[in-house]
Amino acid sequence: MIRDIRLYGDPVLRRAVKPISDISEQVVRLAEDMAETMFARGGIGLAAPQVGESVSLAVVDLSLRGNHGRTLILVNPKVLGQEGEWVYEEGCLSIPEVRADVVRPQKIVVRFLDIDGNSHEIEVEGMLARVILHEVDHLDGVLFVDHLPFLKRQLLKPKLLRIAKGDISLKDDRPL
Ligand code: NI
Repeated sequence: MIRDIRLYGDPVLRRAVKPISDISEQVVRLAEDMAETMFARGGIGLAAPQVGESVSLAVVDLSLRGNHGRTLILVNPKVLGQEGEWVYEEGCLSIPEVRADVVRPQKIVVRFLDIDGNSHEIEVEGMLARVILHEVDHLDGVLFVDHLPFLKRQLLKPKLLRIAKGDISLKDDRPL
């Protein structure tokens, strides 16, 4: 089921999530819904708060083509280490029509449970690392615009206020 995406200004996006203690049928269904919603909206990552659920769950798929076989489902992800930095332009399904360069680590080590409850600790770099960091931020109530320099944030403020007021709706422009 495709779910509504919560937009900038919705308090659920600022709430820190609860860890998932039991991967119940409900959690599995939520992960499926999130993947479906991400593909429908042309995203490459989606975190549970973006569909209004304050739990530690994110989906990532860089293929953009609904390749479910490659969809990474992250339960309770935790970034254990990071290295290097690089700049790349990001967007977010919850912040339509806003894109900006964000500095992120180049390489990370992340630990998470898969949907079957198996624990993984993997080292990833580049775009995959970036998307995972962007989604883990969501789980902490952090949005990519929070990483921008003060002046850039000030410049974006009117647009962010318009999104919060509901004047700008969701479009598919290859967001994270
Ligand atoms: Ni996002």
